[in-house]
Amino acid sequence: MTVFQRLYGHSLPVVLLSLLLVPPAVAKELGEAPYRPGDYVVEDGKVDPNTYEGYLVYTRACMACHGPDGLGSSFAPNLIRAAERRGWADFAGTVAAGREVQPGQVMPSFADDPYVMRNIPYIFSYMKARGEGGLGRGRPRIIESMAEEAEEPDDESE
Ligand code: HEC
Repeated sequence: MTVFQRLYGHSLPVVLLSLLLVPPAVAKELGEAPYRPGDYVVEDGKVDPNTYEGYLVYTRACMACHGPDGLGSSFAPNLIRAAERRGWADFAGTVAAGREVQPGQVMPSFADDPYVMRNIPYIFSYMKARGEGGLGRGRPRIIESMAEEAEEPDDESE
């Protein structure tokens, strides 16, 4: 049994399959099409609620190592470029399983952190918005017409 199986109870392919097949329950639809991990809307520097959620989760769970706004640090790589280079399954798999390519530079596994696990699609959307979507740095605002159902931010994250 691998460390991953001990932590997560399934092999990596099974977990990845479930991430791909089960759309996030709380996902808000972006117009006509159902939300898929990595989808985003950027308009005048504002974003859809899912992408905004991704910003919040990133800031709480990933920023300490990966730097503000996904830009990377001396310790951990730029995640905007990682999201461009790697597909959704690969990105999500790394967050679930962790990674240590350079000895001593450890990406922890988040498999036992349900808050992070259910929000990986939105983190991925935030990184896509930052890259190809041209979203700038800092805390984005939510596009007004998409904001009705969005939750109010509940704390720090700035
Ligand atoms: C304790 C520090 C730390 C935290 C917290 C952390 N990471 Fe990492 N992460 C790393 C390091 C270090 C690497 C590089 C690992 C390697 O390649 O050996 C990495 C690598 C990655 C990669 C692969 C990047 C690439 O270039 O292919 C992804 C994707 C990633 N992290 C996502 C996340 C996400 C999303 C979060 C928040 C949920 C997060 N990480 C939180 C330290 C961290």
